[in-house]
Amino acid sequence: MVSMKEFDYLGKGEVYLDSACQSLRPRPVIEAINQYYTEHNSCGERVKYKWGVITDDKVEATREKVLKYLKLSSRKYTVSFTLNTTYGINLILSQLNPKHFSKIITSEIEHNSPFLSSMAFSKRTGLPREVIERNEDGSIDVDEYDFKRAVVVVNCASNFDGRKLKNIKELTKVVHKAGGIIIIDAAQAMAHSADILKGVEVDAICFSAHKMYAPSLGVIVWRDDLTEKMEVGFIGGGMVDDVKKESYLLSAESKEHRYTRFESGLQAWGEIVGFGAALDWLNGLSKKDWKNLEDNTRELYDFLANSDKVHFVNNEANPTMSFYVEGLDSHMLGNALSRKNIMARTGYFCAHYYLDHVLGLPPLLRFSLGLHNRPEDIDKVKKVMKEVI
Ligand SMILES: Cc1ncc(COP(=O)(O)O)c(C=O)c1O
Repeated sequence: MVSMKEFDYLGKGEVYLDSACQSLRPRPVIEAINQYYTEHNSCGERVKYKWGVITDDKVEATREKVLKYLKLSSRKYTVSFTLNTTYGINLILSQLNPKHFSKIITSEIEHNSPFLSSMAFSKRTGLPREVIERNEDGSIDVDEYDFKRAVVVVNCASNFDGRKLKNIKELTKVVHKAGGIIIIDAAQAMAHSADILKGVEVDAICFSAHKMYAPSLGVIVWRDDLTEKMEVGFIGGGMVDDVKKESYLLSAESKEHRYTRFESGLQAWGEIVGFGAALDWLNGLSKKDWKNLEDNTRELYDFLANSDKVHFVNNEANPTMSFYVEGLDSHMLGNALSRKNIMARTGYFCAHYYLDHVLGLPPLLRFSLGLHNRPEDIDKVKKVMKEVI
């Protein structure tokens, strides 16, 4: 069971409801990072002294844990570390060779991260870009669209209402059959709803460890044949085995070092080690912890849904819920909550296109719950919201 000792840095009465941006880090994760800095501070992959060996072992273990978490085989998939989801998606799209593709497809409910990088891809390659609709339940009508040789880049969980790409398996099958590739933005799925991805053989999954109780870090899980459709366009130290005046030998040519394909330069070793600890922490959670998150979500969602003044974007309860309160400016409401030590987000959460231009909504308030939240937090939020509304 999650212990509040693991989040003991939260002050009394402080309620953190911004897990969709960055989840709080439990003590064991912070400890693992501290341990890296105080016990084996070293550069990975290059260092032969004992600190380096410890770092290498932990980094390698983290890669293995990621694949295990996603139920993907190391025979087909590789794990590379980057800065964040945005960086991972851009790294892939900016190096895809357009000769293999006919267009790029994204969806209307995307975070700016795939939404804008798909625009950049279209500009760079001259290939058309299509923005397709998502059903209320988050699925995509595969019969509605032509996926022939398409690059599809979509999320499997939204960052404003958590709706999921329910038919991800079907979509993956259809895209592959049509000769396309599918890149999944899993930023919002990895912490609380990774089940949707488990064993699904997409071409790449990009996500941010900082949304899964880990330090700031990006991750790309990619199918080894993806790079056959790419040209090297971002390269430097840590990626090559040999360099001549006008040529080089990529380390990624060997399976053992394939991850280097997306890891140019020195990596965030301490953060990777901390991420390994976060995966252990997530794997160690009990049914009670998940039930606690579900109960808190239900309690807060039902409370808000009962008010005539609250207008939800959500179609159903989800730990991530966005809404506006009739007659109240969301930014002012966010400030009022902050004065009561409730930390929540306001605005369009980098999903401007859909929330502002498709739905035409005013700026919103977003509560995104995490595994650290207790029923007392929800009681407090309900009390304050009652006063405010
Ligand atoms: C669905 C989704 N995609 C992409 C991102 C971008 O993540 P990052 O800023 O870590 O790159 C976010 C961040 O909130 C997100 O929620």
